[in-house]
Amino acid sequence: MSESLSQSQYQVCIAGTGSYLPERVMTNADLEKIVDTNDEWIVSRTGIRERRIAAPDEFSSHMATKAGLKALEQAGISGEEIDLIIVATITPDTFTPATACYVQQQIGAVGAVAFDISAACSGYLYAMKIAKRMIADGTFKNALIIGSEKLSHFINWQDRTTCILFGDGAGAAVLRRAAPEEGSILATEMGSDGRLTHLLNVKGGGIACPITKENADDNLVTLAMLGKEVFKHAVTRMKESAEKVIERSGLKPEDIKLVVPHQANLRIIDAIADRLSVPNERIFVNLEKYGNTSAAAVAIALDEAHRTGRIERGDHVVMVVFGAGLTWAAAAVRW
Ligand code: ACO
Repeated sequence: MSESLSQSQYQVCIAGTGSYLPERVMTNADLEKIVDTNDEWIVSRTGIRERRIAAPDEFSSHMATKAGLKALEQAGISGEEIDLIIVATITPDTFTPATACYVQQQIGAVGAVAFDISAACSGYLYAMKIAKRMIADGTFKNALIIGSEKLSHFINWQDRTTCILFGDGAGAAVLRRAAPEEGSILATEMGSDGRLTHLLNVKGGGIACPITKENADDNLVTLAMLGKEVFKHAVTRMKESAEKVIERSGLKPEDIKLVVPHQANLRIIDAIADRLSVPNERIFVNLEKYGNTSAAAVAIALDEAHRTGRIERGDHVVMVVFGAGLTWAAAAVRW
């Protein structure tokens, strides 16, 4: 599903970004103490060196709120001025109400519409597309989109093929109508393939497989993944969707200042860079510090890239993600 500039009544810009990472750091050396793994294997196969783990009483809404407040501050917009909040998460505080409603309460966005979306690692760019359209058509003025995950809750710490990959955190952005001289979101792309639900999932916890002691003992309430298969699809889908938004924005690879990809595996990122003909120095990578934080990953990366001066006014930025579903998405932005 795609869209282009001509369908929009208003241009929409990213007015501010923010992120939050929990304090506790879990290094590869820490993991060596609990599963049969080692730093050399993890770094060479994934690029990850450490990840953050949220405190027991720290939930997705708390992390989302902290990231969201930073984005609001940077945008110079108060909570009361936000009229749309979308939280992308697969680790909501509660099944219902939505995590976005807790965020609404915590930031005082009294007049906002708030809801969650579940698209795993692709959720933040799904949220960007939805918010962009709803601002572009005049429905809302100021949106807060957030990716927030407490993945450590769903990790099987005995499974060395998954527990080394994931971490907790949140990233956010404020989207609003753009003034004529400002940058804007140029093109977005999203897709899903429900034939591949078996590649990456948490089977238990929903209605089909309720949380019981037996299901928990059988590790059905933790994340399971066929890593090699996910890897192959990730490279193909990320390349295709990035190319689509690049083409639709009228950009050439040399026009792109920075590609901000999903932070799952350095080898996937290298493969994408190669296929898009964008040199490695124009690809943003921070997965060595945080691992894969699902919907939060590209949001945190975008915020870090912005705050460290890797993105400046007028730069073209391409974001591209994939996740469970399988799902994928991309966005091209003129900052
Ligand atoms: N430490 C040491 N050895 C390990 C570990 C570990 N943590 N994990 C696996 N191994 C072993 C395996 O047992 C295997 O041993 P064997 O050859 O004796 O059988 C060997 O290492 C190779 O295992 P592979 O699974 O072939 O390793 P691969 O190179 O495929 O890397 C990985 C695995 C890192 C998971 C990779 O497939 C990957 O990154 N896939 C993409 C996954 C991903 O990005 N998922 C996130 C999706 S986003 C979302 O929606 C949440």
